[in-house]
Formats: sequence, structure tokens, C-alpha cells
Amino acid sequence: MTIDLFEDLPQPPWREEIAPGAVVMHGFVREHAAALLAAVNSVVVQVPWRHMTTPGGFTMSVAMSWCGNGWNSDSNGYRYSQRDPGNGKQWPAIPDILMALADEAALQAGFGHFVPDACLINRYDPGSRLSLHQDKDECDFTAPIVSVSLGLPAIFQFGGLQRNDKTKRIPLAHGDVVVWGGPSRLCYHGIMPVKEGYHSLVGSHRINITLRKAF
Ligand code: SIN
Ligand code: FE2
Repeated sequence: MTIDLFEDLPQPPWREEIAPGAVVMHGFVREHAAALLAAVNSVVVQVPWRHMTTPGGFTMSVAMSWCGNGWNSDSNGYRYSQRDPGNGKQWPAIPDILMALADEAALQAGFGHFVPDACLINRYDPGSRLSLHQDKDECDFTAPIVSVSLGLPAIFQFGGLQRNDKTKRIPLAHGDVVVWGGPSRLCYHGIMPVKEGYHSLVGSHRINITLRKAF
């Protein structure tokens, strides 16, 4: 897998600006979906899917795995962790293909080069959802978030800086990438309940991969 894998992808018109600093690149990684899924699976064998408990005590419907840095939630809130608290080992490295994709997507979205240090992987089974939230536990808000959708489609809600700001509903399909940063970096966003379905490559769920600069 070479680092310039994503460089010769076609340019817009399939690029949709949803807010200042937030862009959807429809189909951006469709051709690379199988390799991306293999990378996801290589992480999941080391960090098995888990349903986290929210700080408010609810079990999330989304199953999570991660690499680079890990993700923790407890009654004190959310936190990134460099090591697995269970065995003291560093979390697995972010696979090269995900580093390459993050860099190219951020570049094409106008954010310059991007070297993420955390990658959260979400699995949405039918009915799973992610309520409106801000990604605000990273130390560096100058870096964008790069978010990849694989498998079943979903409706992405994208709002403003206040929880009750009006939200747009953006359909996301297999292979789409969303990048948000700059003035949109702290915008509220979420995923509406994923509908039943079957995707020939991914099966009966949606996989989302987000690449972040946590530290
Ligand atoms: C997230 O907000 O962290 C994930 C968004 C998504 O699943 O598309
Ligand atoms: Fe998020």
C-alpha cells in the first residue's frame, strides 16, 4: 500500500460544502473500500468491538474499536488514552492506508497536510445511532476531523456551535468522506438510526472511521 494511493482520485463536482469548513467528498474512497475494511479488521482483532458507557450511564448503541490513541468514557467524561489500561500496552498503530487517506482527504478539503494520532472506528448495526455531540476532547482544534463511511447508508446531522442550532441532514453512502475543521470544527453532529439493510462488502452494518489529532 503506497502513501500516494489517494492522490489521483477525481476532483469535484462530487464535493459538497455543507457549512464553512465542512465538506462531503462523495465516493472519495469507494475504490479503496476493501483495503480500508481489511485495515479495520486488522485493528478489530487487536481491539475487539465494545459498547461504551456514556458519562450519563447509558450504554451506547454503537460498537467501537480504535487505534493510535484509545478512547475512554466514564462518569468523569470522555478521554483519550495512549495505552490500554488493561495491560499497559500502547494501542495498535494507525494502519498506513488510514494515515494516507486522512492526509489526502484533509488536503483536498483545503486543510493542508494532516497527521492524525487517533482513529476511532464505529460499527452501527441497524437501529444504532449517535446523538448530537461535539468532538471536543481533542487537544488541538486547529486540525480537522476526517470521517469515512462504509457499508449501510446513514443520515448525518450537521448543526452549528450550539446544541439547539438547526441541523442539516446529509445522506452518507459507502465510500463517502466528510472533513470538518476551521469554523466548523466544533459543530454539533450526529447519526440518525441506521436502517436495516445489507451491503455486499460490509454486511448488515455501517462502519465509520474518524481520524483525529487527539494530543
Ligand atoms: C462521529 O461523530 O464521531 C462519527 C460520525 C459518523 O459515524 O459518521
Ligand atoms: Fe463526532
